[in-house]
Amino acid sequence: MLLFLFVRVCESKPNFVVILTDDQDDVLGGMEPMKSVQRFIANEGVTFTSSYTASPICCPSRASFLTGQYVHNHMVQNNSLSGGCYDSKWKYHESHTFATVLKDAGYNTFYAGKYMNQYGTKDAGGPELVPPGWTEWHGLVGNSVYYDYVISNNGVPTHSTNEYLTDVIRELGISYVENQTEAAPFLMVLAPPAPHQPFTAAPRHNGTYHNVTAIRHPNFNVAVEDKHWLIRMPPSPLPDTMIPELDRVYRSRWEALLAVDEMVADVINALESNSLLDNTYLIYTSDNGYHIGQFSQAYDKRQPYETDIKVPLLIKGPGIKKNVKNHQPVLNIDLAPTIIELAGLEVPRSMDGRPIDLQNENKTERYMLIEYYGEGQDGTVDQNCPWIYDSDNLAQCYPQYECKCQDSKNNTFACLRHIGERINRKYCMFDDNEGFTEMYDLSDDPYEMTNIIDQTFPAVKHWYQLTLSQLLICSGAAKCDNPLEGSNLV
Ligand SMILES: *[C@@H]1O[C@H](CO)[C@@H](O)[C@H](O)[C@H]1NC(C)=O
Ligand SMILES: *[C@@H]1O[C@H](CO)[C@@H](O)[C@H](O)[C@H]1NC(C)=O
Ligand SMILES: *[C@@H]1O[C@H](CO)[C@@H](O)[C@H](O)[C@H]1NC(C)=O
Ligand SMILES: *[C@@H]1O[C@H](CO)[C@@H](O)[C@H](O)[C@H]1NC(C)=O
Repeated sequence: MLLFLFVRVCESKPNFVVILTDDQDDVLGGMEPMKSVQRFIANEGVTFTSSYTASPICCPSRASFLTGQYVHNHMVQNNSLSGGCYDSKWKYHESHTFATVLKDAGYNTFYAGKYMNQYGTKDAGGPELVPPGWTEWHGLVGNSVYYDYVISNNGVPTHSTNEYLTDVIRELGISYVENQTEAAPFLMVLAPPAPHQPFTAAPRHNGTYHNVTAIRHPNFNVAVEDKHWLIRMPPSPLPDTMIPELDRVYRSRWEALLAVDEMVADVINALESNSLLDNTYLIYTSDNGYHIGQFSQAYDKRQPYETDIKVPLLIKGPGIKKNVKNHQPVLNIDLAPTIIELAGLEVPRSMDGRPIDLQNENKTERYMLIEYYGEGQDGTVDQNCPWIYDSDNLAQCYPQYECKCQDSKNNTFACLRHIGERINRKYCMFDDNEGFTEMYDLSDDPYEMTNIIDQTFPAVKHWYQLTLSQLLICSGAAKCDNPLEGSNLV
């Protein structure tokens, strides 16, 4: 009897349900509307307080999430096909993800929702292409939207005009869970579009937060002199006429997230009804953060500040402590190795992340790399912003942003996020014509108000510069964890 039980426990691999939202921040209260996520995942599991993305933009971040690799290794640099978002190089990396590893080990694997931004477009292979790693596939063609989209249902493109996408993903998720038996373990990824632009709530949630306004942290709409040139561009601060728009965006994002919260509750309910909940890990996270008004920017991601690079991360599952805050510094490249290890499988050496130690809540010291390649082409300034002289391949300059540009070709940077028991720093180098550098000590400046690079000892700057340069060429968890080891540079 005992032996039988033992064999059974060993054989019964855990299931995984991963929820990946689009542009959900952690810093500005982005988790506030998620009452069911709080109740069913946070209260029953672990909430990470120092969780970051390897790149603050959709496609590169999603590539890191899937492959467990830093951007310089998977080479998905931006959201365009030419930047690696579903080119031939990606098709190679795509066959080495946590999904392919689990599928090869006998898992049923299911994906529904937004995938890599160019997925399903003609040049990326069309919607007939089902990415490797998935036994059941419901990938959204193109970028996040709420209505009027094409989903590839196992390679069959299906157009829908008026079904709210988050609800469609919820129904697919529930149906899939209901169909599972204990015969084979499963992996399910649900990737709803919320709260990505245009922030469309389900009709039943429209107006729920009608009098909520954007959070006013000390860095909200302040004029800036000590940050890189794109942030210093006028108007700074934004004119008062822009503030109602920031408030509208903030509350619309919360309203769009309510359908995600319902999806989580309903999928957990389906797991419970089918007696699968106890053996299932639930992982909730976002691809990148978001800013609304910080340092006189409008609303977007693509910047090195905490609003943009910090993401929610919650995990619940068998053997995991309940209602615990975990302060370990973690990156989204850790999720693939974490899932693979929890499934009892071997983590491929290609992965730069490391399995998260779910039993240790302490802040062990770590140097984390964040990479961003600026997007922008000649002529991407909106023609209704005619006074902007586009000498820098600026992008995302629209009248609704008061013509404040959100990106530029040389808004390219690499940051070191250094966190430890008594350390909380950020060091960023820009690949712009100024070779601009920013440094923040977040332990006494959590809102990154003061760039302290000029007050920093040369030896400290040198140390960070060296560490960053080594991280930018690291490959594999051992090297990326100890970037200076064996480099003879120290
Ligand atoms: C669940 O099974 C039913 C019946 O076989 C099928 O019609 C449905 O498509 C399945 N759901 C999913 C999400 O696979
Ligand atoms: C949501 O509410 C806003 C303002 O109250 C209104 O303008 C808009 O048409 C509504 N949208 C839907 C889909 O009901
Ligand atoms: C929000 O609106 C409700 C009525 O819908 C009102 O009771 C409440 O006081 C308002 N709160 C704020 C902060 O304006
Ligand atoms: C994306 O990256 C590629 C390769 O570096 C570049 O050619 C392209 O212009 C970039 N796309 C945008 C929108 O900047």
